[in-house]
Amino acid sequence: MQRLAKRRKARTTKAMAFAFCLFTFAFLTACRQDMHDQPKYRPLRPTEFFDDGRSSRPFVEGTVARGHLDEDDLLYRGRSDQSAATAGATGQGFADVFPFPVTRQVVDRGEERYNIYCSVCHDKSGAGLGMIVRRGYRQPPSFHIERLKTAPAGYFFDVITNGFGAMPDYSAQITAQDRWAIVAYIRALQKTEQNIEELNESDREKVKAAKAEGQKKTEGHEK
Ligand code: HEC
Repeated sequence: MQRLAKRRKARTTKAMAFAFCLFTFAFLTACRQDMHDQPKYRPLRPTEFFDDGRSSRPFVEGTVARGHLDEDDLLYRGRSDQSAATAGATGQGFADVFPFPVTRQVVDRGEERYNIYCSVCHDKSGAGLGMIVRRGYRQPPSFHIERLKTAPAGYFFDVITNGFGAMPDYSAQITAQDRWAIVAYIRALQKTEQNIEELNESDREKVKAAKAEGQKKTEGHEK
């Protein structure tokens, strides 16, 4: 008799647990998806709402997005009134001056940004043999060729801002100020390379040996 009562009790507990599960489940499925399913456009999705079929709207003509006035021609485009007179063979029309004084701090900042964004292709010395190039990307010219040594600063700024041939632009990743800092650092790199040529024979050999050593170390990381 007692055994029967126990069994019956166990059965009701089970039934209750089942009912509880069913109950919670019913509530779970009742969650509504209104926010999730609201009408919206993913970037660049087509639409029938606008006549031109595009859901992304172009800027209203004659307006400027907040924070993008960019009036300063030298700071944002590497050009100035005297550009034409100072330009070398490459980069005609670009300014060969900086929009702000080049201090030690600026060059240090440029070195840091250069090593992050450019050295992967142009390598740390600017010779154009970065890791991505060694893995098969198109090889850029060395910064130490005559044409780029005489190219105005504004031209380098323009290449970073708008890209050049196979090289993508870095305007979204690097602010205008930092792009100029990188240009200042490239100028420092060009000067250093030039100075190596001006050293006496034995010092030049020492620098070259140190460079070769550095190169070997980088190659060690390739595998
Ligand atoms: C993904 C690799 C890559 C990165 C990163 C890169 N470059 Fe380049 N760069 C190239 C290639 C490739 C060329 C040559 C393009 C061509 O001739 O089509 C080039 C060319 C150049 C030139 C020479 C243009 C000329 O007149 O010949 C300059 C200057 C330059 N890059 C600066 C930079 C600076 C500064 C950065 C960092 C902000 C940078 N690049 C980052 C690949 C890169």
